[in-house]
Amino acid sequence: MLTVREAIQKRRSIRSFKQVPVPDEMILEMLEAARIAPSGSNAQPWRFVVVTDAREKRELRELCFDQAFVEEAGVLFVFCTDLSVYSGRTRRTRMQEMIDAGIFANRELDDSRIQRYTQMPDESDTSFYLPMATANTYIAVEHMVLTATALGLGSCWVGGISDLKAIRDMLGIPRGIYVLGLLAIGYTDTEPKARPRLPLDEILLRPFPPAVDVSQ
Ligand SMILES: Cc1cc2nc3c(=O)[nH]c(=O)nc-3n(C[C@H](O)[C@H](O)[C@H](O)COP(=O)(O)O)c2cc1C
Repeated sequence: MLTVREAIQKRRSIRSFKQVPVPDEMILEMLEAARIAPSGSNAQPWRFVVVTDAREKRELRELCFDQAFVEEAGVLFVFCTDLSVYSGRTRRTRMQEMIDAGIFANRELDDSRIQRYTQMPDESDTSFYLPMATANTYIAVEHMVLTATALGLGSCWVGGISDLKAIRDMLGIPRGIYVLGLLAIGYTDTEPKARPRLPLDEILLRPFPPAVDVSQ
């Protein structure tokens, strides 16, 4: 099994898959990696549809700008986010679970946290909750990506969706659940080189390590 560092370094976006099914145990292992991901207030907004059926994969390819690897993948995870997790009732349930698990262990603080929850916007405030829910869901999806790498599978995120509504209708996704993208997974025999990245100094807003001041 790869270390986390090895999986991070080995991962590439793979856009060519062998026509070999991905075993259910591996699919379940990737879902488990998503399930245990961290999320703000432990809200766990991620939701998935697992697609292995050839006809459904073909349809999804058409709805994703005809990207061929979408149909070729052994399995597609359609990942979604569910804003109902931010309803006052569900948030209080999650908070109580965390308190019961002894996470905060400070009675006064616990009471004030619960109090604060009652003052948060209602889950219908999508402009407030959708970015939060999306960020949390992407964390879970990256857990799946790294698990796929560790299992010897290739993966590619698919954000290029040409018809979101058609995907919703096709899969019967209920209101309040937002389709964010697809994760294509499968066996591959390609080993692409690392793709270009910005140098470290372009992503740091101030130098690290800090420059040593030799004047003193
Ligand atoms: C949110 C997201 C959406 C993406 N959507 C697509 C896509 O629709 N089609 C595609 O071919 N690659 C897609 N990619 C893959 C990126 O193009 C790829 O990560 C980037 O070029 C860097 O290459 P690497 O992943 O091999 O390191 C997506 C990646 C992310 C994170």
